[in-house]
Amino acid sequence: MYYLKVLRRNWFFLIIFILGFLFVFTKQKSADNYQSGLKDLRVQLEKEFKNAYSKDADFNGEIVEINLIASLDEIEIFDGAKTKVWAYNRKVPGPEIRIKLGQKLKINFTNNLPQETTIHFHGVRVPNAMDGVPGVTQPPIKPGESFVYEFVPKDPGTFWFHPHVRSSEQVERGLFGVLIVEDEIDKMYSQDIVWVIDDWRLGKDKQVDDRFNTPMDLMHDGRWGNVITVNGKLEEVLSARPGERIRLRLVNTSNARVYLPTFGKDDNILKAKIIAVDGMYVKKEFDFGDLELAPGNRIDIDIIIPKNAKGKEFILIDRLIPERINTLAKIKVSGDLAKTPNFEYPVNTLVPNWENAVLLGIDKEYRLNARRKNNKMPPDIEWTINDKAYPDYDAFVFKYDKINTFRFVNESARLHPMHLHGQFFKVIARNGKPVNEPFFRDTVLIYPRESVDLALLALDKGKWANHCHILEHAEAGMMTVVEVK
Ligand code: C2O
Ligand code: CU
Repeated sequence: MYYLKVLRRNWFFLIIFILGFLFVFTKQKSADNYQSGLKDLRVQLEKEFKNAYSKDADFNGEIVEINLIASLDEIEIFDGAKTKVWAYNRKVPGPEIRIKLGQKLKINFTNNLPQETTIHFHGVRVPNAMDGVPGVTQPPIKPGESFVYEFVPKDPGTFWFHPHVRSSEQVERGLFGVLIVEDEIDKMYSQDIVWVIDDWRLGKDKQVDDRFNTPMDLMHDGRWGNVITVNGKLEEVLSARPGERIRLRLVNTSNARVYLPTFGKDDNILKAKIIAVDGMYVKKEFDFGDLELAPGNRIDIDIIIPKNAKGKEFILIDRLIPERINTLAKIKVSGDLAKTPNFEYPVNTLVPNWENAVLLGIDKEYRLNARRKNNKMPPDIEWTINDKAYPDYDAFVFKYDKINTFRFVNESARLHPMHLHGQFFKVIARNGKPVNEPFFRDTVLIYPRESVDLALLALDKGKWANHCHILEHAEAGMMTVVEVK
């Protein structure tokens, strides 16, 4: 009896042991399958990217050399009143620099401002040393000093440039300009036009309010102004003929204001297609009117002026806040019927869908929030990424030539248009739900409490700033650095 009992007990343990072994074994096996499945998925997504944009610049030997000076100046925004500004080459916006894809841009820059400065070329994939981030890619340029920025852009499109030192003050005072890298398609349009949208906080004396980074601005969505200009004017008008096909490039250089631009009220609706976002051609053109233009963003649209539109006006409005519509600029149609250039929308069908990218999981999460620095009333606010305020930050590495995923979690109640230097990314999910935006971006607006997942193929080595483009938030700490290697 006793032996039987022991035997039975042993059998019992043996069975448990075998079951346990099978359990662990299959578990391990499925984990292995899972891991190798992920690896396959990575490879597949990297393949899908292939040539969506180029790895290297293709220099054609031509150099475009420009002298650029930043200095104090005055411009006329309002009739008869001079507004004191800081300007590139005595203009606000600064000069519209145009080069052709393949050319090298050489900018001999001189700082005649009373402060240190640098220039960052927003959206341009430049060699890291040309990226203009003080303390990360170069020392700040002191008053009276010069610096040469030199690079061959890798992508055609609409880009812009601005200081990266005290940018909440320097950009607000007027330091920004547009860089267009032209390709073969541009000249096929009847007109190729840039509208630089900016807002200012001006006092009754029509001067820039010089209280920067106020606690009020910091507690909210940064410095929203009381005057909006397009190309430095209160009423920018573009003259067009019926039948013309126009490439219109919208750039938001405002410190903090987000626009939702669209054409027209009521009968003035003009059909326009978005062909590029943040400089890069979209996968397929889509209707203009529902995409926000957050600080830093660009939207290029393709417009055909209707043949019967002679005498009409098409007004570009901002309807972000429906009860407070802003008029931005207008197209006035006059003259004889023009021949409509006939060609396919210039799109980039190679933009990957990356539909399953969400299955990869998230390599790095960035939590966005604010904290008070002291008990003053109102308190000084710091904007943080993972509880650190720049220049304190968590170093993070993106793997070169590999797909990388990251997530912004907005734990705050404010807006954060997050901008990553030197890279383009795709939004793959919002609040955990997969989305497939048919385009790349370099700046993505994150709404309060929202989480946004992104994927990118890192093709540009170096240390790249990653920050909120509400410049007050960035100045108050909302910046980090990622290294691609
Ligand atoms: Cu347009 Cu780091 O910025
Ligand atoms: Cu922000």
